[in-house]
Amino acid sequence: MPLLDESVTLPATTSASVEQLLRQSEAKIQSLEQAHAKEMLRREQVERELNEARQLLQLVMDTLPEAIFWKDRNSVYLGCNRNFAEDAGIGAPEHINGKTDYDLAWKEEESKFFRECDRRVMLADRAELGIVEPQLQSDGKQAWLETNKVPLHDERGKVIGILGTYQDITARKKAEIALHELNQKLERQTIELSAALSGLQQSQLQLVQQEKMSALGNLIAGVAHEMNNPVGFLAGNLGPAQDYVRDLLGLIALYHETFPNPGEAIESEIEEIELDYVREDLPKLLQSMGEGVKRIRNISTSLRTFSRADREHKIPFNLNDGLDSTVLILKHRLKADEHRPAIEVIEQYAKMPPVLCFPGQLNQVFMNLLANAIDALEESSRGKSYAELEAVPNRITISTQVSSCEREAVIRIKDNGIGMTEETQKRVFENLFTTKEVGKGTGLGLAIVRQIIVEKHEGTIAVNSELDQGTEFVIQIPLEAV
Ligand SMILES: Nc1ncnc2c1ncn2[C@@H]1O[C@H](COP(=O)(O)OP(=O)(O)OP(=O)(O)O)[C@@H](O)[C@H]1O
Ligand SMILES: [Mg+2]
Repeated sequence: MPLLDESVTLPATTSASVEQLLRQSEAKIQSLEQAHAKEMLRREQVERELNEARQLLQLVMDTLPEAIFWKDRNSVYLGCNRNFAEDAGIGAPEHINGKTDYDLAWKEEESKFFRECDRRVMLADRAELGIVEPQLQSDGKQAWLETNKVPLHDERGKVIGILGTYQDITARKKAEIALHELNQKLERQTIELSAALSGLQQSQLQLVQQEKMSALGNLIAGVAHEMNNPVGFLAGNLGPAQDYVRDLLGLIALYHETFPNPGEAIESEIEEIELDYVREDLPKLLQSMGEGVKRIRNISTSLRTFSRADREHKIPFNLNDGLDSTVLILKHRLKADEHRPAIEVIEQYAKMPPVLCFPGQLNQVFMNLLANAIDALEESSRGKSYAELEAVPNRITISTQVSSCEREAVIRIKDNGIGMTEETQKRVFENLFTTKEVGKGTGLGLAIVRQIIVEKHEGTIAVNSELDQGTEFVIQIPLEAV
């Protein structure tokens, strides 16, 4: 467009200067236009480069295996990569702008959790790395993520949002869970198996012990039975024998009265056989034979008490008899020998009501405790002189009583033998625990004792011991109404 109206006439000098001005203006405009065109070109170039850079950045982000997203201070999404857009169910990354987690595929509680986590990271201005969290994705898959969240800052260092990346670790997590479950199952099975194994071992060992006890019981019962016949025969004949002797002695007395002078031969025979002494002693002798027979009878009864086979159910039993019969069975071990004097057994029995129990098993308990006491006394006698041992005799004290509440029978078996260390005391009832040399102890005795008292009779057993002083076992068995 011309700058001046051509109809206006101007003086020549003015016209020349105007023309010059005009040319100058035109030149300026031209250069301005050129600069503008250049600027436009440069802008286009910058825009192109910017676009290329943006595309490259998006390409890089889309190529990464991770999902990437960033949000502003209010947890509103500002951008993401393709992986994230797919998981979120928004199609393309550009659709994320302005959305919050509640607009995306995840569950409400997951969204809440993600936003809480955002808040924490921004408030603390500290990255949280390796957060393992669940996420329901747009294709319905319940995924497990390993997420990193890092606070974003402006140039003055103020937190303006967060950048997040995550990796889908569902396969790994599933494998971990499966492995964990498998491990737990294996652990359970191992525990069950080892319990079954130790149960089997225990019952095998106990069977062997019980078998031994029952073999011993059978043998003793057999001996007691065989003793019965001759003892019965002796007891049965002793009475008549005493009568006959009394009659014969009476007859001799009558002869003597009737024939005071029987002649030299008879008188010298009377003197020879010491008839007066025989008359006095023979009845006593027969009486002591009767005592002997009575004792054999008692022994036989004790043997039978000891060897009683248990039935299915508990039966009333006199514990004092059980203890007595067990002491009798162990008598050979209590006797004096060349190394030590006899072991004293002190019985302090209270009058006990019959106890409902398995008598054979309780006798097994008494047998084990008394055998251990004898072992402990033999151990402590080693290296001591006969005189020393006579001065402080080896002693086992057995006592029975009814507890003060009258609900339990209490049995104490005490020795003044070698005693035990604290460590041994803690372990005595363990299966296979023994301090004895190989071949001497199996470590089963007290484990079986504990089982019989605690499991079979619902009782208790405790040990009190001091090293080099002695040991006491205290058993309590509930007194059930008989
Ligand atoms: N009266 C006691 N005095 C000292 N130690 C004892 C006494 N009774 C038991 N012990 C200790 O407890 C351990 C375990 O006793 P337990 O009766 O279970 O097994 P054991 O006697 O060694 O072998 P066994 O199977 O032949 O009985 C013994 O080895 C011993 O160390
Ligand atoms: Mg033992």
